[in-house]
Amino acid sequence: MYSPPPPELLELSDQQLAARIRELKAERNAVVLAHNYQLGEVQDIADHVGDSLELSRLAAKAPHDVIVFCGVRFMAETAAILAPEKVVLQPARDADCLMARMADAAALREKKRAHPGAMVVCYVNTTAEVKAECDICCTSANAAQVVEQVPPEKPVIFVPDQYLGRHVQQQTGRKMILWSGYCPAHVRIQPNDIRALKRRHPEAKVIVHPEAPQPVTALADAVLSTGGMVRFARETEAQEIIVGTEIGMVHRLQRECPEKSFIPATEQAICPDMKMTRLGDVLLSLAKMQFRITVPEEIRRRAEQAVQRMIAITEPVA
Ligand code: 13P
Ligand code: SF4
Repeated sequence: MYSPPPPELLELSDQQLAARIRELKAERNAVVLAHNYQLGEVQDIADHVGDSLELSRLAAKAPHDVIVFCGVRFMAETAAILAPEKVVLQPARDADCLMARMADAAALREKKRAHPGAMVVCYVNTTAEVKAECDICCTSANAAQVVEQVPPEKPVIFVPDQYLGRHVQQQTGRKMILWSGYCPAHVRIQPNDIRALKRRHPEAKVIVHPEAPQPVTALADAVLSTGGMVRFARETEAQEIIVGTEIGMVHRLQRECPEKSFIPATEQAICPDMKMTRLGDVLLSLAKMQFRITVPEEIRRRAEQAVQRMIAITEPVA
């Protein structure tokens, strides 16, 4: 549940909040990481804005004592898994990923028993307990590359996103045992949204996140992670780009490429949890050192193996 900030914070302008955040960051030796779907004002004060893979890498190698993670729970948890010696704070305590909650460790253990010999590939959008049950983790930026590393004779259990799973099946030709999870924001994007926009903007390129259902990804010029979308936007000759993902992405893209025009596929693709973090929450997080995210050591060690295996086989993108 969202807890309102104290009244004195409500009187401060965004500039005043940002100035105070900068002071506290220096005092605490803290770095602020923000996912591409965060509110514009939060992206603007962050030290780094990126996709899940980029932010995990940054968390793992940050020289700071404190990581303030503006995102949802699995992202802060992944930072805590990779950097247990650091203090990881999530300013909006309850910001969570609804898709990650669609898979639990007990159900996954059951699935593993039903498919002995299978390897489990988990999307990073999972709880630490689920990661601890997996062989290797992946993000939307490297899912096909990770699945291709699994020996061909081994069945793959893919958890929890059925749509990303189907996209990877199409890319790799591997048949996989898919979990039934999905992202409630991405399933709001419909093929007719894209068709209507393409009629109005015939020159526009279409980029879509692989969490969108296949009838939508089938209409895309490129199916990309949010980090991949930033690179596409920088490199394309197109001046207009239709963006099939969570609405916050448009702010990031517009900031990167102010001369181009980014058109959301639909205003309906909103992740409310990604919008929970306000500037006041970031300030309170640094002032009160709240809300600390930790993972029990026995789970952390097993989850870390799955995440580190992914990091080892996937090269960072320049
Ligand atoms: P990216 O890793 O592409 O940023 O996606 C994370 C996410 O939660 C998408 O909904
Ligand atoms: Fe999870 Fe979907 Fe929100 Fe991404 S957009 S954090 S997958 S609920």
